[in-house]
Amino acid sequence: MTDHHEEYPEDFVAGLEWMWGAGFMSPGGPAEVATILKGVDCRGKTVLDIGCGIGGIDLLLVKEYGAAHVIGIDVEAPLAQRATQLMAQEGIEDQVTIQLVEPGPLPFEDGSFDIVFSKDSIIHIPDKRGIYEEVYRVLKPGGQLAFSDWYGSHLPSTPKLEEWLITVGLTFDLGTVDGAAKLLHDIGFTHIDYEDRNAWYAQNMLEELATLEGENYSKAEALLGKDGAVKRLRSSRLKKQVVDQGLLRPGHIRAVK
Ligand SMILES: C[S@@+](CC[C@H](N)C(=O)[O-])C[C@H]1O[C@@H](n2cnc3c(N)ncnc32)[C@H](O)[C@@H]1O
Repeated sequence: MTDHHEEYPEDFVAGLEWMWGAGFMSPGGPAEVATILKGVDCRGKTVLDIGCGIGGIDLLLVKEYGAAHVIGIDVEAPLAQRATQLMAQEGIEDQVTIQLVEPGPLPFEDGSFDIVFSKDSIIHIPDKRGIYEEVYRVLKPGGQLAFSDWYGSHLPSTPKLEEWLITVGLTFDLGTVDGAAKLLHDIGFTHIDYEDRNAWYAQNMLEELATLEGENYSKAEALLGKDGAVKRLRSSRLKKQVVDQGLLRPGHIRAVK
């Protein structure tokens, strides 16, 4: 068991799945996973997924992308348990191993993986250089990194950004996508390719809000409770403003060891 503070309790995760689909704790669903994996061939490969959450993406990596073996790691025991259950329900427990880890160095030998994947989880890790060095270490030579993350911008912070960060209440450490690319280059990665997804997310935010507003609000309330629905809607409305201000910028990054 880990003593890591749990930031994703069950009711919070229910709200994320409500907005983003069963098994997903981040926006965009299977279509966004496809965009992250553009040009990355998972067939027959060994894949590490950092911050696997409740496992929806690990299922896709095996079933849709043909990965031979996926190791999904997470720091929160209840999430790892749910992901483990999902793999058993789907009958792919031989192909997906879910592992509870402590934050810090990755518990794997050098050169263990063909691909290291992560979606919207590195934001929780303050030591960006440390985690990218670890990814480099555990990749095989020629192995690929394919990440999505939530980045900030070079613009000065605004009261709206501060208000959203307090409302969402998660330990977020927003780097920038070009800062990440520079770090990867310094560490020795090649073929670094990155994409800003702010415009996509500004559009996606309209769909996210639609799941919470108008006639859907009573459904959200039934699922999340009165306080949960109020908090969820407030957080999403604030997030829309910081996305529109350009201060929250999802982005994808790919690189080769
Ligand atoms: C926004 S969720 C994304 C989950 C999943 N990738 C998805 O897109 O559905 C972020 C996840 O990162 C996990 N996490 C936070 N710090 C971590 C760390 N140091 N190592 C691994 N996972 C971590 C959290 O517990 C959470 O499950």
